[in-house]
Amino acid sequence: MTPAQTVVIPAELARRLRSAQRVVVLTGAGISAESGIPTFRDAMTGLWARFRPEELATPEAYLRDPKLVWDWYAWRRSRVEAAEPNAGHQALVELESRVPEFLLVTQNVDGLHARAGSQRIVELHGNIMRTKCFDCGRIAGDAKPQGDAIPPRCAHCDGMLRPDVVWFGEMLPAEALGEAMRASTESDVFLSVGTSTVVEPAASLPFYAWRGGAVVVEVNPDATPLTPQASFSLRGSAAAVLPQLMAAAFPERS
Ligand code: OAD
Repeated sequence: MTPAQTVVIPAELARRLRSAQRVVVLTGAGISAESGIPTFRDAMTGLWARFRPEELATPEAYLRDPKLVWDWYAWRRSRVEAAEPNAGHQALVELESRVPEFLLVTQNVDGLHARAGSQRIVELHGNIMRTKCFDCGRIAGDAKPQGDAIPPRCAHCDGMLRPDVVWFGEMLPAEALGEAMRASTESDVFLSVGTSTVVEPAASLPFYAWRGGAVVVEVNPDATPLTPQASFSLRGSAAAVLPQLMAAAFPERS
């Protein structure tokens, strides 16, 4: 249970969110931290503090040692399968139901937003529960190794299957990125939740919104490179702050 973190929601922010027509939310690993999924860059606990991304999250690493990489993603999948969406994920489901135009852009590959009930989702970095062929690119759903064939093989071309996530040095899905950039530029209110705002191109989306005249709101226990530009920076965890933001903007809800 998230310890009680009460944050002050400025009345101007509540008013702007309540009257917003177009809202975009960008999420990062921080929103899933309270569901037990490690972030990437938090000291000690973050994945990149314990594992070397160049050994596990690049196409070269996969060709070098497919079993090492496959097993690491199998471990991460087991953490995702054991996790449940938290109050932060659920608050965004409710926000989606209250604003005319809404888009949830996530860097997370855990699928917890969809499991919470969010509809309008763009997965910028893919989804760890899906696999695709390393050679022909065909999506192979939630392929599980048959016997000791690790990694499993593609039914079409017999290529190695890999997690359907974006690895370092790889391009993001163009259509997803285009939709995220357009919606961010046209947004009235842009929420940046649980992201360190350092990995491009996702880290530029709040600045597209800012240049488009949106109210840019950051939700994060710590400051990030976005903080100086943010219209409002709410210091606290996603599961604690987002329900309070909803209660302030939509008092009739409870
Ligand atoms: P990071 O681990 O870089 O940042 C997580 C952020 O969440 C930090 O700023 C924390 O302060 C904050 N945080 C921690 N706990 C929180 C909580 N309970 N509520 C709210 N915020 C919290 O993760 P991302 O920004 O998502 O990319 O990383 C971006 C990308 O870098 C990932 O998608 C992944 C990684 O390499 C790829 O794999 C392509």
